Amino acid sequence: MQINKIPVFTSEVFTFELPNFNVWKKQIKQIVLVENNKDIHGQDTSPKNQCNVMAKRTAWNSHLRYNSLNLLSEEIKSYLSKFIEQEGYDIPSLEVENCWINWYNKDNYSQPHNHGSCLSVVIFVDVENTDAKFFFHGNNNFVLIKKNEAESNYNNVKQVTAKDGTVIFFDGSLQHSVSANKSTNTRITVAINYDVDYKEERT
Ligand SMILES: [Fe+2]
Repeated sequence: MQINKIPVFTSEVFTFELPNFNVWKKQIKQIVLVENNKDIHGQDTSPKNQCNVMAKRTAWNSHLRYNSLNLLSEEIKSYLSKFIEQEGYDIPSLEVENCWINWYNKDNYSQPHNHGSCLSVVIFVDVENTDAKFFFHGNNNFVLIKKNEAESNYNNVKQVTAKDGTVIFFDGSLQHSVSANKSTNTRITVAINYDVDYKEERT
């Protein structure tokens, strides 16, 4: 008897290199420096409640608090909009919902989590000198994994290698995580969630 195999779901995430990255990097590192020295500057917008990210971060609406993050999220929006237009995706408009900086000191990590229904962006600002890794996770409960070829027919975890300056964007409902930073260097990323707006009601 012939048993046929039919792949049923595939997922894609998208990456590009951020133009003028070194200028942005300088500005982002400056914000981290300020927030790390709140005693001197009286500025620390990091939320008090813990979440899945066991690292330091600025407030969720940092694009409204720091002009450089506002400009960065608008610039990235223009790249995404161009891509959406070229590829013909059905996304009439994007609005910045959240924007924040994460920085992972030694042993900091992020549990698998997702950002809900939005288009999510992660900018890898300063990651090359740490060994923390970024993963996407499948959302399956029961899987048929081969004993001797676990990687060949099924993959529930996918590592994404990124350089400083890499921007990755993806469906915000995709689970992702960051492994523990075992180095003493700080790992810095920026996250932005874009709300997908439809101007007219759809039936
Ligand atoms: Fe995240």
